[in-house]
Amino acid sequence: MSTPRDYSKLTNELAAEYARHSPKSAALNERALQTMIDGGSHSLRLIKPFPPRLVSARGAYVQDADGHTILDFWQGHYANVLGHNPDVITSALARAFESGFGLQTGFTDELQVQVAEILCKQTGAERVRFTTSGALATMNAIMLARAFTGRELVMKVGGGWHGAQPWGLIGVSFMSGAEPWRAESAGLPDALAREVVVTRYNHPEMLREHFKQHGNRLACFIVEPFMGAGGFMPATGDYLQTARELCNQYGVVLILDEVISGFRFRAGNLGALYGVQPDLTTLAKVIGGGMPVAAVAGRADIMKLCGRDGGNKVRFPGGTYSGHPASLLAAKTLLTYLVEHESEVYPRLAQLGAQTRQAIEDAFAAEGIFARCTGHPNDAVRGSSLAVPQFPYDEKQALLDPDDVNDPAKCDVELRDHLFQLALLLEDVHVVHGGGALSTMHTEQDIARLGEACRRVARRVKKSM
Ligand SMILES: Cc1ncc(COP(=O)(O)O)c(C=O)c1O
Repeated sequence: MSTPRDYSKLTNELAAEYARHSPKSAALNERALQTMIDGGSHSLRLIKPFPPRLVSARGAYVQDADGHTILDFWQGHYANVLGHNPDVITSALARAFESGFGLQTGFTDELQVQVAEILCKQTGAERVRFTTSGALATMNAIMLARAFTGRELVMKVGGGWHGAQPWGLIGVSFMSGAEPWRAESAGLPDALAREVVVTRYNHPEMLREHFKQHGNRLACFIVEPFMGAGGFMPATGDYLQTARELCNQYGVVLILDEVISGFRFRAGNLGALYGVQPDLTTLAKVIGGGMPVAAVAGRADIMKLCGRDGGNKVRFPGGTYSGHPASLLAAKTLLTYLVEHESEVYPRLAQLGAQTRQAIEDAFAAEGIFARCTGHPNDAVRGSSLAVPQFPYDEKQALLDPDDVNDPAKCDVELRDHLFQLALLLEDVHVVHGGGALSTMHTEQDIARLGEACRRVARRVKKSM
């Protein structure tokens, strides 16, 4: 346990340096502030003091208005497994647009069938409905579960992020285990927090306890098989299998939120690697091939509640842009590519992930700072292309749960989330929450470059510790 360090002097220095490094992005930020809240959309992109404003992107790199070629580990919120703007997708889209196909949303076509067929085959789901964002997918999956079971309570993991939707906005930030949990947004019904049970990740005992206490009132348990925004940690096999068993025992719908993990670790869902078949799976990010595609996929008897056979009980029509033809063309092209190249893509991503985690840890160690990356694989997930450095005050600190890495008394959260990001931007390297995801377009040279940049950053940080 430790009190957070004060980095304000170094942060101010870095911010001033960054303003000199990127004057055009700084000026564009001033302009953006006149019309947009905080100068843009999606708060995670709006780095303080201002974000780099992009003009192009290719592979592992993006270019900003100041002419910097930035090595990017954010990769479209972890979506772009083949890097930015891969030829295989852009050429398919260019051909389609030239032939007069792509923006005629409002109809349906063979593409929707083809993508749904791939998703069912690769995830074991029976039915799919498309939508346009991960948040809509998780919200609709929860509505389906509540309608199917006729129960109200939703269980989720503390620190788990399922998108900005009502049930997902409870138990997200680290709150020192504070109970009762409250909605982390104004504007939501007060009663909502009473409908959500917050449990801990990788804690089968607590899960059993929560099922014992609430099981007969629970509609669903929504959980990521690989924790994303909460800190990049895989579920233990025991935890996920226990979740499956308890859901069966109490008649609770198991929703695996695979918005990040779907098609990132294999050409399909991650639940399969645990031998766990969920009742519903939510998918987005990778499956869109860089376009906004999301889906709920799962058991026919649950999914039918949003269709005619189920009396359209659940109002999950999909939305104007659901199954958008250009988006689904990108999705089909990417998913087909991933299925066909599975044996090359995923071992390569895993190798790059392992090298990245090592490079970051080595760089900090060389400057006398202890860093341990999360994003590592385990017995079920054999390789991982995710990496984020954690800076625990105690080297023996377990990093199994979002609370372990987001408690400022246990880990140097300010260094990971803000200082490191800003300092790396001065090195023309882009990370979010301190890390990110690899794509097949990253190379060993890129990782060496990251390692050198981390070393220079670590040297500066060390002086402020
Ligand atoms: C696991 C998980 N679920 C859901 C979402 C929400 O997805 P979206 O941002 O597309 O709404 C996210 C977004 O980061 C996510 O990581």
